[in-house]
Amino acid sequence: MLTWRGILTLTAALPLALLSASCGDDETPGSTGNSSTNGSTSEQPGDGPTYYKDVAPILLENCANCHRAEGIASFSLLTYEEAKTAALSIRSATEARRMPPFVLDNTGECNTYSDARWLTDAQIATIGAWVEAGTPEGDAKDGPAPPEPVGGLDRVDVTFDMGLDYTPDESLVDDYRCFIIDPGLTETAYMIASDVKPGDQRVVHHAILYALDNANAEAEAAALDAEDATPGYRCFGGAGVNSRWVVGWAPGGGPTTYPEGTGIKLNAGRKAVLQVHYNLSNGAFPDRTRVELKLAPTVAKEAVVTPLPALNLNLPPGQELTEATNQYTIPAQAPEVTIYGIGPHMHTLGRTMHVRAETDSGETCLGRVNDWDFHWQSNSFYTTPLTVRGGDTLRITCGYDTRTRNQTTTWGEGTEDEMCIAFLYMTY
Ligand code: HEC
Repeated sequence: MLTWRGILTLTAALPLALLSASCGDDETPGSTGNSSTNGSTSEQPGDGPTYYKDVAPILLENCANCHRAEGIASFSLLTYEEAKTAALSIRSATEARRMPPFVLDNTGECNTYSDARWLTDAQIATIGAWVEAGTPEGDAKDGPAPPEPVGGLDRVDVTFDMGLDYTPDESLVDDYRCFIIDPGLTETAYMIASDVKPGDQRVVHHAILYALDNANAEAEAAALDAEDATPGYRCFGGAGVNSRWVVGWAPGGGPTTYPEGTGIKLNAGRKAVLQVHYNLSNGAFPDRTRVELKLAPTVAKEAVVTPLPALNLNLPPGQELTEATNQYTIPAQAPEVTIYGIGPHMHTLGRTMHVRAETDSGETCLGRVNDWDFHWQSNSFYTTPLTVRGGDTLRITCGYDTRTRNQTTTWGEGTEDEMCIAFLYMTY
């Protein structure tokens, strides 16, 4: 184990960090076959965009996964009629980059992500031009087939199951619950793909699976469970005991495959804690969330999810933007580290984040958030993994809008407290 990892590792109660796959999956059926050079149309130069030829491919590939009857959005975007009805709000949501939801900057100024939910500037312009032209329909022959809902993993080796239906506490707006799960793993193995299956998406807001790595942590969790009369125990921000982050999910997340040759270790015979954040704004519906994993007996490189926090938060009230920053220098003799992805985490006051590595030869940007949204946090993988070395300094800066507060906000697990962490998926 690296010495500097010790510095970075927070012990108990790591906060939310979520790993969610992109909705706009490259492999979405129907994303091909939409070529505008279809010989059967009499396209003239200067023809404006039509729904079937130009807009449907964008909406079906990048929006339909959530905007469909069984998806998490309240309205569907599968047909011409639906797109036409919502045309003005589609234009403004895409121009402002509110939709598709993705908090990391994917412009290329600070990396791009292989699982980004992101429209190119050209796609946004196409939507704008289509709305401007009065939402012309075009010829249905030119349109792609509606995509199938995203399927699950190709193989499920272990399922972490709450084991019961839990009805969230109606007296709360947000019910954060931790459930102890024994997956019955008889051999140590590595997670190489995951799929979180929320039981009822009307209430499940986030879910995170934490591994318990020793009997002590298991005993502490069992004690918390025993003290609490209802199933599981109350927790916010983390598992409430010493634990290791394994997988997380946020709305819109689908199955995730981890970078080739890497995986997160799961120890034989050990239990885990599943933290589920229930939001009761739709009502209190019973839920039984499951996490399905695909395992490999070995991997070329074990991955760890390492938090890079700025713990020293002391945020004055009434500020439009107040920043907190922290830095860590990697010891000179440390081995080279490959970073595959990043998961930013702040609470509701968070606005911006900038994570970078300062090296002898300059600066590497590890991640940037320009407009944080607590509800859309996710952990994304870089298109090209990054490398940091001994001697490099890692710096994290978070910006907060404290205008709604009348006293100082500090680090903590409560919803009224704040955090500043980048979770880095890495191997060394
Ligand atoms: C990861 C899931 C997800 C994806 C992908 C997604 N949306 Fe949404 N969208 C939502 C949710 C959830 C809401 C909020 C509430 C609702 O359902 O009205 C929303 C709201 C909207 C709204 C209304 C609110 C606003 O901000 O204007 C529009 C318009 C919209 N989406 C368009 C799109 C378009 C266009 C795309 C694709 C380019 C897209 N969405 C992709 C989940 C998603």
